[in-house]
Amino acid sequence: MRTTANLEIAVPDAVIRAVLSQDKVDEPPHSFYKYPARFSPVFAREAIKAFTRKGDTVIDPFCGGGTTLIEAIALGRRAAGFDISSLAVFLARTKTSPLSVHDKREILDWSRVIESVDQINASVSVVATEESSHYHRHLPDGPKAFFEIVIGLSRFLANHRQQRIARLALLAVGQRALDCKTDVPTWPELRAEFCQRLKALLDDQFDYLGRVAAANELPRCRVTETRRVINRSAEESGEDGRIPAGWLPAKLVLTSPPYPGVHVVYHRWQINGRKETPAPFWLVNARDSGLIPRAKHSCINLASTELTSFSTSAASGLFCWLPMVLKLFSLSP
Ligand SMILES: C[S@@+](CC[C@H](N)C(=O)[O-])C[C@H]1O[C@@H](n2cnc3c(N)ncnc32)[C@H](O)[C@@H]1O
Repeated sequence: MRTTANLEIAVPDAVIRAVLSQDKVDEPPHSFYKYPARFSPVFAREAIKAFTRKGDTVIDPFCGGGTTLIEAIALGRRAAGFDISSLAVFLARTKTSPLSVHDKREILDWSRVIESVDQINASVSVVATEESSHYHRHLPDGPKAFFEIVIGLSRFLANHRQQRIARLALLAVGQRALDCKTDVPTWPELRAEFCQRLKALLDDQFDYLGRVAAANELPRCRVTETRRVINRSAEESGEDGRIPAGWLPAKLVLTSPPYPGVHVVYHRWQINGRKETPAPFWLVNARDSGLIPRAKHSCINLASTELTSFSTSAASGLFCWLPMVLKLFSLSP
């Protein structure tokens, strides 16, 4: 046990070991998508165990792919996360949303249809708009056609829960196949990877949410009651009325904001060198905040809105939680 002189809080050795650990952590559901600049789930887990108890609330004002939220609810805590990116919110929500046994079976049946779809008999008739051209920018033709077919067929899945899981698997396949890559995979390779990933994701998601349900003594279908994922800037998020009053004040704020001077491409992939594509938004049916509507069916792209650095708004988003953090520190024994 080490004690920091200024803040007077005891930091358990397990947290220090987790901070210093160089081990690669790739466990589900964190592994479903490699969110850029995510932090270690082991660190999040140890920090939550050390500074909170069951039933306490943990807040992450810059929740990204949901590392804090995923670990908090698996430990029986309540968790609330904010992120300005619709892609981050899709990830954090989908990873923490339950599927029923029936959903699982229907998705598996649906994936058998995908296994039999090949490029020859697939016909795509998509009228390109300025907006779709934005989302498809720099995508190679083969993967683009594959994504279009799978998205089209996902509309036959029975509900939004099922459709979101299919889109998450597609996102994971797209990232692995294209992000920072130069070789373009073939249609059969994409199809095999998609079907295999979807099955693994279903099993892993089911196991994880079973653990969450047990930790919170809730039926699986109610685990979403343990978390809130809110798509907004962290700025003044302390005033956001969507966190139930009974959850506040939170016991722990655990976050990794965008840091000054650190350039991270959070929401786009880099294809064939440094050609950026906003295709991740398209794959999960989320809106790219870099797109500002100009008129119906038309848009302009503000490349500068990619959120890569510590802005004033991010700073105030962090500091609005500070009084509560300081209060908790001063109450600590
Ligand atoms: C370092 S990442 C967080 C990663 C996260 N800890 C994880 O493990 O996945 C920082 C996040 O802050 C988000 N962000 C940037 N500016 C923001 C703002 N003003 N309000 C809320 N979120 C913001 C970005 O979209 C990004 O997801």
